[in-house]
Amino acid sequence: MKTRMMQIIDSENVRDEELREAARILRTGGLVAFPTETVYGLGANALDEKASGKIYAAKGRPSDNPLIAHISAIEELKPLVKEIPEMGRRLAEAFWPGPLTLIFPKSERVPYGTTGGLDTVAVRMPGMAVARRLIALAGVPVAAPSANLSGRPSPTTAQHVWQDMQGRIELILDGGPVGIGVESTIVDVSGKIPTLLRPGAITIEMLEKVASTVAIDPALMGKPDSMIRPKAPGMKYRHYAPKAEMTLVEGKTEAVVREIRQLVDEQMMAGHRVGILCTEETREQYPRGILRCVGARSDEEMIAHNLFAVLREFDDLQVDCIYSESFPQNHLGYAIMNRMQKAAGYRMIHAK
Ligand code: TXA
Ligand code: MG
Repeated sequence: MKTRMMQIIDSENVRDEELREAARILRTGGLVAFPTETVYGLGANALDEKASGKIYAAKGRPSDNPLIAHISAIEELKPLVKEIPEMGRRLAEAFWPGPLTLIFPKSERVPYGTTGGLDTVAVRMPGMAVARRLIALAGVPVAAPSANLSGRPSPTTAQHVWQDMQGRIELILDGGPVGIGVESTIVDVSGKIPTLLRPGAITIEMLEKVASTVAIDPALMGKPDSMIRPKAPGMKYRHYAPKAEMTLVEGKTEAVVREIRQLVDEQMMAGHRVGILCTEETREQYPRGILRCVGARSDEEMIAHNLFAVLREFDDLQVDCIYSESFPQNHLGYAIMNRMQKAAGYRMIHAK
């Protein structure tokens, strides 16, 4: 299959003509990658099992890993769900359109092929206007996982999508680099207490202002093992993984820098190519190794924005191992560290 790339001229003021072809492909059962405010999505008609099946094939995604149905307006929620629990309604009102995915009991209209066999469905109304307009023109809810090959970091530019999906899908809509850079927060509202399944830009602190209690899926607390099954099936896979072995180093910044310098020296003596994921504040302090800076420690939004691109760069640079600084786990830092721990396969050293 030949993949076409189409550039959106101005993402803030997208014209319908620019989206007609993409909408037609989605309506007729094809695959289109498109930008959202979190990461690029790989879209198909969520109500057409055959179409959503193509997503699994294109990504190499395990078929038990359910897809998020994206909608363009709140009226489109009702047909997809059995009921809208009070907490679901309140969270949707507070944070949609935006980087929040809610899990509801599914209606009969949503095929099991889209939900990975589950009786629940994940729904999100994206904040980016291009995405909403595309869904509206397609006239169907759009199932869309992140548009990466399964196991690679999520794409935050159309070029990342091209690297992974070239030859596998009909069309890539290029709307420029995404804003946020980490995937949406997922909250399950199908039970009594809303439960966080994946941290994102809608932080726990923000959720708690709307829902006084928010439970956290125990699987989020640490390294997944066979005893604790994550409620979001996708969270059990080693996601976001760079090809090289990555190790996180935590502790006071000075100690972290000292530890990483020592580890880098050891690895280089052994003849390895070593990557260092560092920050503006520390970049001058590493004399050796291949440095990539994710942003300033004081600006976690910038770190989230750059993280996946930096992991992909390390792949391109063909490093053998990566040592990375760590970040505080409150606010957006929780989502950042969740992705980094997964990328590192939970390898973490405490620097003293
Ligand atoms: O920001 C995002 O959410 C992006 C953009 C494209 O919207 N999409 C995205 O999709 O990250 P994906 O497929 O890469 O991640 C969806 C996660 C997976 O971990 C999946 O297991 C979980 O959501 N999920 C989907 N439906 C679910 C359900 N019914 N119950 C529990 N978890 C669900
Ligand atoms: Mg994904």
